[in-house]
Amino acid sequence: MHAVAPGPAGEGSPVAAVAPAAAAAAMPEPALRELAARHGLAFGTAVDMAALASDPVYREWVASQFDSVTAENAMKWDVLEPTRGRYEWGPADELVAFAKANRQAVRGHTLVWHNQNPAWLADVPVAELGAVLKAHVQTTVRRFKGDVGQWDVVNEAVEADGTLRDTAWLRALGPGYIADAFRWAHEADPDALLFYNDYDVEDVNAKSDGVHDLVRRLVREGVPIHGVGVQGHCSVDQAPRTLRENLGRFDALGLRTAVTEVDVRMAVPPDPVKLEAQADVYRTVLRACLLTPGCRSFTVWGYTDRYSWVPGWFEGEGAADILDEHFVAKPALRALRDGLSFGGTSRRD
Ligand code: XIL
Repeated sequence: MHAVAPGPAGEGSPVAAVAPAAAAAAMPEPALRELAARHGLAFGTAVDMAALASDPVYREWVASQFDSVTAENAMKWDVLEPTRGRYEWGPADELVAFAKANRQAVRGHTLVWHNQNPAWLADVPVAELGAVLKAHVQTTVRRFKGDVGQWDVVNEAVEADGTLRDTAWLRALGPGYIADAFRWAHEADPDALLFYNDYDVEDVNAKSDGVHDLVRRLVREGVPIHGVGVQGHCSVDQAPRTLRENLGRFDALGLRTAVTEVDVRMAVPPDPVKLEAQADVYRTVLRACLLTPGCRSFTVWGYTDRYSWVPGWFEGEGAADILDEHFVAKPALRALRDGLSFGGTSRRD
């Protein structure tokens, strides 16, 4: 489900007016992915499958600028298994094929969450929920073994105060469901990198303290967890000032880190001051990642305001992406490119 009705790409629309060749000519060079590679960093975007199918300009940007893709919705449980026992792999397979054709990594998102689960799950007896979750995790991870190199295994399981979120999984299975999910995923694909992923954990705060405690315990217990994803949904009014310090403490646990879903929203309409403030936030987030040795992947949650989830979810806010709704670059794109454009790197393995 997409909360935003994308603008009609019909006659007279600025998007429709851009021929693919002209759009390709407007692609920045070197590509973001090439600039990022100099730092040993994968540069990703979330992908909206409907836009990918219908909008050649959208597709061209994804193909040329990014070397990592995340399904914005296509690998969530409600899309994969709308009817119990009947998996529908179509959209997820399309993304994997697109990624292969464009030499891109795929971040799998997400296996265990309290949102976007199929409706039938509510009718599953509590006693069966553990087996059902295990089957979902393993069926999905096995299906994409070799194609999806890293998974957000558990998404958003911690509350703002750092305690475990009160979800159907916690109530039915107890706190051990998190470790179990990682073990199940690892059994299904021992080569995949497995992440815990959450929002509002950019800064050092009560919530990121809770995530830190959780993953430290998992590491200590030998649970196969390899990284922590910081989503990075930010606002121009709240730059994450302690992100570098926060990523550093996960790095110190021997875990990878990833910035998995960056966007920087603002009250609409945008103006030059807000757009510069936005560029600063993007730059700050990128810099924190570049300064953290184990932060090897930086993903924006969509790259054009034309298909952003933000206006549908945050009343009165939008303009959160690095291109505007007509695929025109904003100061934020320049900031990211500048942030990647200096010399070589000591981050190579
Ligand atoms: C969002 C998608 O962007 C929307 O299209 C969908 O309607 C709701 O979910 N944190 C996450 C993502 O981990 O999966 C969410 O994606 C955004 C917040």
